Amino acid sequence: MQSLSLSFHDHTLVIAINRPEKLNALNKVVIEELGTAISDVYNNGEIRSVIITGSGTKAFVAGADISEFGALDAAGGKAMAEKGQKEVFDKIENCPKPVIAAVNGFALGGGCELAMACHFRIASANARFGQPEINLGLIPGYGGTRRLPRLIGKGRAMEMLMTGKMIDAPAALQYGLVNEVTAEDDLMSKALAICAVINTKAPLALAGVVRATNAAFDENKTETEIFGQLFDTADAKEGAAAFLEKRQPVFKGA
Ligand code: COA
Repeated sequence: MQSLSLSFHDHTLVIAINRPEKLNALNKVVIEELGTAISDVYNNGEIRSVIITGSGTKAFVAGADISEFGALDAAGGKAMAEKGQKEVFDKIENCPKPVIAAVNGFALGGGCELAMACHFRIASANARFGQPEINLGLIPGYGGTRRLPRLIGKGRAMEMLMTGKMIDAPAALQYGLVNEVTAEDDLMSKALAICAVINTKAPLALAGVVRATNAAFDENKTETEIFGQLFDTADAKEGAAAFLEKRQPVFKGA
């Protein structure tokens, strides 16, 4: 794997997104490789639980890779969102084996969405969560508008989606976005300890928990439609260009 680092701890697979120099941003290769890794989790009888984390000390995942946005139009944006959701995010959510996010820094945009697709989350004290797509003239494309309100309530979710603000680990704990906050150095040992408990449970019953719990929530395709359409706007081009040029965007409503 070019952009993932995989390691085994007893029956737990640890998947670390491994582009620390780009704050583990999700480019096409990462999405492709995550899809492959998660498919293997479904099929590999040795794997009983999974931890997803980010390499380095600064980020879990700082979002989709904005440098790939310039080439996208409405059809391309929609296709990107659909592919990512089908091959990675929904696959994680529906994985018959427990998948835990160990959030070790920035979890922004697609990073927050990746954490939310996992069955539950623990975070280190330096974790920061946010859906800053609005700053790029966009909305989340990997399920953020569905999963964030479910986890923290509609009002808090709307505020985060509309302001693009980041929340810190204590706020994420208070909102119910994460189950627990640990010291930075304790995050992985805590995640592994939770998995060690889970690994003793009946695999078919664990798969049943996932299916039964997820069955309570319907799919909503509206997000994918709007996410795609926004790539045809001048504001979305301006948002990505301003980020890459390290300046403030000027949005015009077109
Ligand atoms: N896509 C592409 N590159 C990204 C990225 C992303 N989502 N997030 C960070 N990077 C890159 C930066 O461009 C920079 O690359 P460079 O060193 O080649 O210039 C590198 O990662 C380090 O990031 P930098 O912005 O210099 O770190 P910082 O500590 O000053 O800021 C963040 C950290 C997370 C606040 C900032 O990187 C950020 O806002 N990232 C984008 C978050 C976002 O909008 N995500 C949603 C995308 S839909």
